[in-house]
Amino acid sequence: MTTPLQLQKRTMAIAGVVMTVYLVLHMLTNLNFFNQSAFTAFYDWYNNSIIRWLVLLVMAAAILLHVKTAIKIRHVNAKARTVDYKKHDRFKIPAVFVSLSIVFLFGFILIHVYQTLTFVSTDTYAEIVQLFQSPSMTLFYLAGLFVLLMHLHHSLANVLQTLGKTSFSCHCLAWGVPLVLVGGLASIPLYISVVMP
Ligand code: HEM
Repeated sequence: MTTPLQLQKRTMAIAGVVMTVYLVLHMLTNLNFFNQSAFTAFYDWYNNSIIRWLVLLVMAAAILLHVKTAIKIRHVNAKARTVDYKKHDRFKIPAVFVSLSIVFLFGFILIHVYQTLTFVSTDTYAEIVQLFQSPSMTLFYLAGLFVLLMHLHHSLANVLQTLGKTSFSCHCLAWGVPLVLVGGLASIPLYISVVMP
């Protein structure tokens, strides 16, 4: 029989997979930035399509479910484990810092979606260039992407461990996939602020 905790963990994992699939597609479509006409053609179509609103709806539901179930699972775990695990790591990031980074990631996603929804012109290419011409915005996005990298690595490593996969190649996979994903997204603000005239 499936326990409520197992159901919550499954819901959280499914929501995480939905967001990761979106992020892969988001990264691939945004890499079109390096081909201005393809990027503009894509966003001209996307922004006038019902798909944009469906995607936003699915993403909003996935983020809320993911966060809600994560909070519930944390609560259940904290109640069940009054004595902490014996620590083996010499270097351990304090729990409060981890919680703050997750709150920052959530805020980053909300601000990003708000910014893209309030672009004043229909020229998404020009809007993105303008956004990342601001050094503080570039830093803010790079910080958000760094937290996303750590979060994806941590989640993937945990999933692989649960599946009993602890080999060296799995360790590489848990770093490789998030690095490619986040690296692809980070290439846009980095290119605009460092390379573009
Ligand atoms: C530097 C990295 C990123 C760039 C350049 C970027 C670019 C964009 C662009 C161009 C849009 C659509 C603008 C429009 O509607 O005209 C958008 C929307 C969106 N982005 Fe990002 N994005 C980045 C990172 C992220 C991250 C890390 C997430 C995390 C989930 C994310 C989630 C979304 C969502 C949910 C939307 C609204 C739905 C959609 O239009 O697809 N983006 N982004």
